[in-house]
Amino acid sequence: MNKPVKQHLIDPEICIRCYTCEMTCPIEAITHDDNNVVVDAEKCEFCMDCIPVCPTGSIDEWRVVTTPYSLDEQFGWMELPAQEDLEDGGDTGGMEALDEAMAALLAEAHEGAGGKSKAPTSASKASVNLHNLAKPAVAKVQGNFRLTGEEADSDVRHIILDFGGQPMPTLEGQSIGIIPPGRDADGKPHLPRLYSISSPRDGERPGYNNLSLTVKREENGLCSNYVCDLQIGDEVQVTGPFGATFLMPNDPDARILMICTGTGSAPFRAFTMHRQRSRGSSGGDMVLFFGARTPDSLPYFGPLNKVPDRILKKHMVFSRIPGADKEYVQDRMMVEEEAIAEMIADPKTHIYICGLRGMEVGVDHAFANIAESAGMSWSATRDAMREDGRYHVETY
Ligand code: A2P
Repeated sequence: MNKPVKQHLIDPEICIRCYTCEMTCPIEAITHDDNNVVVDAEKCEFCMDCIPVCPTGSIDEWRVVTTPYSLDEQFGWMELPAQEDLEDGGDTGGMEALDEAMAALLAEAHEGAGGKSKAPTSASKASVNLHNLAKPAVAKVQGNFRLTGEEADSDVRHIILDFGGQPMPTLEGQSIGIIPPGRDADGKPHLPRLYSISSPRDGERPGYNNLSLTVKREENGLCSNYVCDLQIGDEVQVTGPFGATFLMPNDPDARILMICTGTGSAPFRAFTMHRQRSRGSSGGDMVLFFGARTPDSLPYFGPLNKVPDRILKKHMVFSRIPGADKEYVQDRMMVEEEAIAEMIADPKTHIYICGLRGMEVGVDHAFANIAESAGMSWSATRDAMREDGRYHVETY
């Protein structure tokens, strides 16, 4: 029998195919085919550089194996295999030391990152990867509206895509990939860019097989410029859907605390619309902290303001209003300290953070201050919430 080794794997059900790990790996040990992103056991040196950059935690999977899974085996997976039963008497010497070294590296890598997340226990089961690079769905553009004011320094758009008769079942919090047309410098097709879906599960228009995205035009952004310039009737190649953990609880009494900046609001528009359509104002409360430069640059400013407070309590904070102090979401969280402390102590509360990676540390500090003033340990509370599928971070 071979000596058991620890193999680094990626969970194909949770991976959102953003390819960030592949771009981060310093030794090109991560690769992909049309279906999956995978780790080459012959190359991986366990440097852990890929762990903190993964927005979903799907990168953080390990198996002790006697023969490592090959790339071809991993490309074919729809889900991860269970840990194999190692024969009694197998020589596991050295594994404990490796485990300890990896645990230390992982603890460090998870500092400030979203960490390995779990879906809420009451969430619906998400469909993932129905359309891949080899066989993308082809959607038709039904709408392209500018969400930010003409004076705003950012161009954020609401894009509506219709899938006609092709299957595209999605849940709030999932993403799709858009393949920009053309080829890269090496003559290869471009990789898809990921966008969070901003419409609820029953469609942008209820009962239609369509969905919406919230896309910000980035200077020199290949895909964002392509998407922001789409015209009604254009056809777009789409992969996905992706994401199986950043999902809404179906429990009607679940309380939802959402914190976002800019286009990170996309999933929260979907959450709010789903609650409105499915339950009206009954059920657990929803609270939103939303940061933008100005009201003019806050996507969905008008529609969000129209959602009654009994469904969605809104805290819109602005960083660049002339003559006013800069305010970030974490500053307003401190102002709302008591309300947040009450929510995090309630086992019905789910926390979602989405938007700029830079806000993650500030938001985490705010939670730590709030929890600790209320006599709770934030790291223990956050870990317990994460384990329970009630703490979710998606930052980029
Ligand atoms: P600012 O850029 O004025 O410092 P953007 O418009 O770039 O998408 O950003 C959305 C909002 O997030 C802006 O108000 C921006 O403020 C704010 N922001 C930038 N960095 C952070 C951070 N580290 N924590 C919280 N909010 C931030």
